[in-house]
Amino acid sequence: MQYKKLPNADLNISVISLGTWVFGGDVFGKAEEKDCIEAVHAAIDNGINLIDTAPIYGYGASEKIVGKAIKGKRDKVIIATKCGLKGKGPGITIDLSANFIKQEIENSLKRLETDYIDLYQCHWYDANTPMQETMNELCGLQKQGKIKYIGISNFTVDAIKEAQKYADIKTLQGHYSLLERSIEKDILPYCQQKNIGIITYGSLGGGILSGKYEKEPKFAGSDARSFFYKFYKGAGFEQSKKTIAALKEISERIKKPAAQIALNWIRQKPGILSAIAGARNSIQAAANAASADWELSPQDIKLLDNAL
Ligand SMILES: NC(=O)c1ccc[n+]([C@@H]2O[C@H](COP(=O)([O-])OP(=O)(O)OC[C@H]3O[C@@H](n4cnc5c(N)ncnc54)[C@H](OP(=O)(O)O)[C@@H]3O)[C@@H](O)[C@H]2O)c1
Repeated sequence: MQYKKLPNADLNISVISLGTWVFGGDVFGKAEEKDCIEAVHAAIDNGINLIDTAPIYGYGASEKIVGKAIKGKRDKVIIATKCGLKGKGPGITIDLSANFIKQEIENSLKRLETDYIDLYQCHWYDANTPMQETMNELCGLQKQGKIKYIGISNFTVDAIKEAQKYADIKTLQGHYSLLERSIEKDILPYCQQKNIGIITYGSLGGGILSGKYEKEPKFAGSDARSFFYKFYKGAGFEQSKKTIAALKEISERIKKPAAQIALNWIRQKPGILSAIAGARNSIQAAANAASADWELSPQDIKLLDNAL
């Protein structure tokens, strides 16, 4: 594993992190608690230290499993959780009000069985709450020692700038992969310039970048791969084919799995602090961690750059 220092902070973060949306067991196919716990242990054993979760993943289920899995290992992990999503299913709304954050932090600490969160991230930008109210609340939690660092997720550059007026923003979590590169336009350069570490989600396109789908797969309407990620249906699936073909060509040539190549491509991009990869078992977690053990050549990076 390789580690990068969080700018101006005392955290060294593994360049591959573990994503736990799938642990929720509701929108990413079924998840067995035993497999999820083994995934956390395999991640830690293979050098991953950042575990990303959120109260909304399985409405507390993901945080609870992470809490169980890290018992006796708290000092080995950097817990990144989130705040600001309320409700269930199609009724989910964004709420970064001070009142809601006050409730969420207590629930997260309980579920994760810890007394502090290393990285506390606003899950989505909230147009209805003044930024100052949100950030003042988060700074208060920092002073109380309940959170160490503040991160944001799914914010535009304007929203990041607004947040920076009131708090020291350490990380931005954004959708980024070989199939989704829009943050390259302005978010990535801005964060690089301001020393904000980028943590990527959907790094495997929800799994499709492993090259496992020969034909368009069918997922239930409630599955994230049919409403959140756009690569599983119709034109989205067709568009992903060229990238996946390039991944497979490299995979055969260099004898590395396509998923590892996709993660390797992300982590070698300047400005990227860590690529989160979701894993539903120990095999996936260990395989994803292994993408930090070798380097993709500049020629292959270029080939993939041009594949979308
Ligand atoms: N901030 C946000 O708004 C936001 C949004 C989305 C996600 N996230 C975070 O980012 C994390 C990562 O995103 P994600 O989980 O949605 O998608 P992802 O990491 O792109 O894909 C994860 C899925 O890919 C498959 N997979 C993983 N490793 C594999 C391997 N080595 N070989 C083959 N298949 C493999 C697994 O699904 P199958 O086994 O079913 O194929 C796994 O659930 C989430 O878990 C969450 O922590 C944050």
